[in-house]
Amino acid sequence: MVLGSTTALLGVVSTALLSAMSAQAASLESVLAGQANLTTFRGLIKKHPDIFGKFSGEVTIAAPNDNAFGKLGDWDSYSDSRLDSTLHYHVLKGSITTTSLLKGDSIWAATDLTDKDYTSVSGGQHLILNKQPSEEVVLTSGFATRGTIVVEDLSFDNGKIQIIDSVMRVPEGIESTARSAYTDLTAFVGALYAADLIDEVAGQKDVTIFAPRNAAFQQLAGTFERMDTETLRRVLRYHVVPGRVSHIWELKNESVLASAENGNKLAITRHTNFIYVNSAEILQADILVSNGVVHLIDNVLGPDEANARPNFSLTAAQPPVLTQVGATATGTGVPTPFASDLPCTASCPPAEASGGVNGGYGTAYGQDGSSTNGGVALPRCTGLAGAGVGVGIAAIGAMMAL
Ligand SMILES: *[C@@H]1O[C@H](CO)[C@@H](O)[C@H](O)[C@H]1NC(C)=O
Ligand SMILES: *[C@@H]1O[C@H](CO)[C@@H](O)[C@H](O)[C@H]1NC(C)=O
Ligand SMILES: *[C@@H]1O[C@H](CO)[C@@H](O)[C@H](O)[C@H]1NC(C)=O
Repeated sequence: MVLGSTTALLGVVSTALLSAMSAQAASLESVLAGQANLTTFRGLIKKHPDIFGKFSGEVTIAAPNDNAFGKLGDWDSYSDSRLDSTLHYHVLKGSITTTSLLKGDSIWAATDLTDKDYTSVSGGQHLILNKQPSEEVVLTSGFATRGTIVVEDLSFDNGKIQIIDSVMRVPEGIESTARSAYTDLTAFVGALYAADLIDEVAGQKDVTIFAPRNAAFQQLAGTFERMDTETLRRVLRYHVVPGRVSHIWELKNESVLASAENGNKLAITRHTNFIYVNSAEILQADILVSNGVVHLIDNVLGPDEANARPNFSLTAAQPPVLTQVGATATGTGVPTPFASDLPCTASCPPAEASGGVNGGYGTAYGQDGSSTNGGVALPRCTGLAGAGVGVGIAAIGAMMAL
């Protein structure tokens, strides 16, 4: 009897000892040390005990491998605050396993990045996780930067580790997103400036923005040239859904969203692999920005054309819903309306102050209401020839994958 209970006691002690030892063995560092090609990330963890030293509750660490940092190229020139926000963005709240996701499932995962300078969405900035038909799990971050989980579901004391092949990029505002990646959004952002709505749209928390691509503005160049500022404001506000971040998987067939234009409704239609808002096709969904999500669309929406729906018999693009007047051409020969309304920044050389090639549009909506065309205009951003991120076929491919 006595011997038996001693043995039992020893058993308890050794179990406790073992679990203490295994807890020790499952620290973040020790688990990462057992994996190849994580030298850079492990170095960053060591330097940032404030972020990785202790966690309040369970977390999932998205750990970029060395190749991910290699692809980034410039990460060692990140400012301290950018590095700090980037690292916080790689700490996801809760323990997320890839096995908990079904094929086609997406989750909008909250991260540890709550700094107001970087995020204006409720519950901290988020990442999207999506399980592809191939079973791969893809993470999507700002600027539609994606990464694939290459080593799944490693356990450590405070949750899970997912090793990824790209460094996730902290979402920025729509303007910076347009300038540095999605140059196809410059007409929309320029129009927000022209209508003095940039602060309203970029400054509010939790928004969904349906942003027409440049070509959609170009085919209405004459229409916009004649449009008064009040009408322009109504048109633009109709593209914004306040108080709600609606991801592609939430855009269900026949669902309706209330726009910032007096609550006027926007209707979602799904047909085969296409998703439309009114009659405009979503070309690229889920471009994360600091205050929500942007969906790039192929047509300008009309607040007085809320009943517009796609015509599925058309093989070509859906026609514009606003009445076309005057210049409607698309392509490089036609200046993009409102592109010249984007203010210049240090990284963008001033335009010729001459009412030249880029001087024709947007001048009717100068912020003081006067025309600046032909005068010595303020330096304006033109010719934003940045790296366009794939839209169109690649985007449709990504949507089909959902
Ligand atoms: C580590 O990186 C090297 C060089 O890119 C590669 O050849 C090797 O397969 C990687 N090892 C693992 C386990 O991923
Ligand atoms: C979406 O709703 C429309 C209108 O009711 C319907 O005709 C269509 O079949 C639906 N599409 C899908 C993909 O369910
Ligand atoms: C839809 O497109 C077809 C093909 O161009 C056309 O014949 C038809 O009139 C259109 N329907 C509507 C409602 O506009």
